[in-house]
Amino acid sequence: MRFVAVVSERAEFDRWLRAQAAPAHAPRTPQQQAGQQAFLRNGCGACHAVRGTRARGTVGPDLTHVGSRLELAAGTLPNDAAAFERWISAARNAIRCIRNSSAGTRNTSRCS
Ligand code: HEC
Repeated sequence: MRFVAVVSERAEFDRWLRAQAAPAHAPRTPQQQAGQQAFLRNGCGACHAVRGTRARGTVGPDLTHVGSRLELAAGTLPNDAAAFERWISAARNAIRCIRNSSAGTRNTSRCS
């Protein structure tokens, strides 16, 4: 596990801290609205909280301001759209593998 440490002036740190403590802002563009709907409709909120929405999961990390992070997954991925998509796809694939393996299905391609 790896984290980036950012050094900043006190006033800048206080502004950052207040912003991080605030709930997520309401989606402003059609793309953001679609993203929030996809998040809420696809069950992400069962495990993740996004403060200011009905997503209140506690199993996974709080994703309220995930877009403002420098990196994802304990510094293993950059925080950009491509890495985000890879992360979510990998999780989906892991769930498929677990389901297939418990159901005794032979389709376990890309499961190791
Ligand atoms: C069954 C529970 C569960 C569900 C459902 C789930 N996640 Fe996660 N998610 C986790 C856990 C646990 C972690 C932390 C994994 C780790 O650190 O290895 C995580 C990590 C993440 C991360 C990385 C967070 C970070 O701090 O870097 C993102 C982004 C993420 N999930 C997005 C999603 C999205 C989007 C969905 C819905 C499509 C989703 N998750 C659904 C449990 C879940």
